[in-house]
Amino acid sequence: MRVVTQVSDLRSLLNAWRRADDEVSFVPTMGNIHEGHLSLIEEARKRSDRIVSSIFVNPMQFDRPNDYGRYPRTFEEDKRQLQDAGVDLLFNPPAEVIYPRGFENSTYVDVPGITDILCGAHRPGHFRGVATIVCKLFNLVQPKLAVFGEKDYQQLLVVRRMVEDLNIPVEIVGAPTSREQNGLAMSSRNNYLSDAERQQAALIFQLMCETAEQVIAGSRDYKILEAKAKQVLAEDGFEPDYFSILTLEGLNTPSDMSPPDELVVLVAAHLGQARLIDNLPIHQYTALAESKASHAS
Ligand code: PAF
Repeated sequence: MRVVTQVSDLRSLLNAWRRADDEVSFVPTMGNIHEGHLSLIEEARKRSDRIVSSIFVNPMQFDRPNDYGRYPRTFEEDKRQLQDAGVDLLFNPPAEVIYPRGFENSTYVDVPGITDILCGAHRPGHFRGVATIVCKLFNLVQPKLAVFGEKDYQQLLVVRRMVEDLNIPVEIVGAPTSREQNGLAMSSRNNYLSDAERQQAALIFQLMCETAEQVIAGSRDYKILEAKAKQVLAEDGFEPDYFSILTLEGLNTPSDMSPPDELVVLVAAHLGQARLIDNLPIHQYTALAESKASHAS
């Protein structure tokens, strides 16, 4: 695996691959690599000849400076894991390579509408930072496709919308969320949890499953389901930002006529030092329940 920090080195390696007609896929990360990232790389490997990954803790997408400062940075271990996973090229630029004028003075990308709700409402400027860095990285790497985790579902939709609106010729692939045994979605932010909190955090997945079950059973009182789940989280010591049932397609408020299969349950909640986000498309819950039932029989 080649590791480069400068744009010129990145471009000359990529040009050589392009001349050889190699198809390049891209997995952008902020490092602190875990199994969730490795599953994205696995997905990329199935679809291309060469895999480029990046590690860049992007200051523009942090809404609180102390969150940026404390974000886990584990470069040597990350490098080893990415190499073992078969990544061909790792781009690890310093901030001044990406934002030579400082990120506050850089041109940015705003995706309207979809960024106003959920995490966008709770983390002002976050999705501007995400859209800007993803756009810049796409311009630098120019991959055929890029893989993003479905765990950050709103981020995935923001990236899809940006690519569509700006005619960026990159195919966006969503990869399923990797979970711990107890259902907790894998995330670098889980590092902020104590062992006890990691166990407690399983409540998020449990509540999403219970809510999905109720929607499948015919409940259409979405607001009541949301309020109940938030109350359970709060009573257990979480500080929920949102617990929402929305349409999968555009994160709109569902109507009584919306088919359950086209809905998704989305959650963000603070626990101890961590802000955890997760989501469960109802059709995924159905598939999960069916596979559990067939294993049990
Ligand atoms: O999901 C992430 O790790 C980041 O938001 C991303 C897409 C790498 C942009 O910094």
